[in-house]
Amino acid sequence: MPTSKMIEVKDLSKHYSSKKRLGIFKSEKNVVKALKGVTFDVDQGEIFGLLGPNGAGKTTLIKILTTLLLPTSGIAKVNGYTLDQDKEIKSSIGAMLMGERGLYWKLTGRENLEYFGALYHVPKSIRKDRIKSLIELLELDKIADRTVETYSSGQKMKMVFARSLVNDAPILMLDEPTNTLDVKEARRLRKIVKEQNEDYNKTIIYCTHLMHEAEELCQRVGIIDHGEIIALDDPMDLKQGLQKNDILSVEGTIPEKAQTALKLTPGVMSTQILVKQMNNGSTEKRPYLNITCENSHQNLPEIISTLTTNGAIIRNIDKKETTLEDVFVNITGRSLMDDTSQVIKTKTGSD
Ligand SMILES: Nc1ncnc2c1ncn2[C@@H]1O[C@H](COP(=O)(O)OP(=O)(O)OP(=O)(O)O)[C@@H](O)[C@H]1O
Ligand SMILES: [Mg+2]
Repeated sequence: MPTSKMIEVKDLSKHYSSKKRLGIFKSEKNVVKALKGVTFDVDQGEIFGLLGPNGAGKTTLIKILTTLLLPTSGIAKVNGYTLDQDKEIKSSIGAMLMGERGLYWKLTGRENLEYFGALYHVPKSIRKDRIKSLIELLELDKIADRTVETYSSGQKMKMVFARSLVNDAPILMLDEPTNTLDVKEARRLRKIVKEQNEDYNKTIIYCTHLMHEAEELCQRVGIIDHGEIIALDDPMDLKQGLQKNDILSVEGTIPEKAQTALKLTPGVMSTQILVKQMNNGSTEKRPYLNITCENSHQNLPEIISTLTTNGAIIRNIDKKETTLEDVFVNITGRSLMDDTSQVIKTKTGSD
């Protein structure tokens, strides 16, 4: 059965012009190429993930698709409408944009939902009930009648999410919707996103820099980096593409010469020092060594011996399940979880 395309994006580019200050009186024109020829489609009833690090171009793309921003070149259609049909597009989508305040702070949450419901032509007869059920669904009853200016960041985020559902549109565009939510609330929001897809057949674009969110929710994922889609597939297929090699994660003290020696160790394809955030509630980040190798079962004794004879002190060694993070690291040589600057060093077997 042919599926209808709810979103079509073809060769979309966006260049921002800004001024780069060179001194107090001097500046020069600076062009940022935020999107460089992005192409993808989203089928009806699909959750499509846009996964990428800070500055990748996710928000820019969503701003274009919600008609808040014009592209520099390329074409896009949303629900069959071209980008100049902004009225039709706006009534086809519920959007939640990062960085957009999206609510009137002097109004209560309920008044905001009333206002946006009316703006999106939700008939009065169903508006009240829908708002009531959204407030219940998102457990906003205690704060719904307080002005938004008194909300915490997470409460505002949840109310903005409720706003994106108020017009019950067939397409949802969510830009980092769990940002500022705690773990429990984030899980709850993802559950609601899944229900919107499964129970109401909504087509969803879900932007995130958290690979576990993309893995959990999305039927297909486009990995975006520096304005380009660098991988696009079912998350399982993306991961299976890597599975001919194993990834060993080594924690401990690993001197430079041990990494160099590893390059000559049988089966080792590449090594990368990355950093990870500790799960102990602190801001501590710890370096670890990722070793991509063939047949780790057979080559592990030799790898351990190479490390220890070259002065490494190994605290822990794990064989990692392949994740979308590994797909990103494999393509870019950088970690998705950490900002590029936090990747201490990248070493590949070929250098
Ligand atoms: N108004 C603007 N003027 C100039 N450059 C901009 C503007 N908005 C965004 N950019 C640049 O465009 C690039 C893409 O930004 P964008 O906000 O789309 O990324 P993102 O993937 O949403 O990042 P994040 O995860 O941090 O939200 C970045 O390099 C950013 O600095
Ligand atoms: Mg963004």
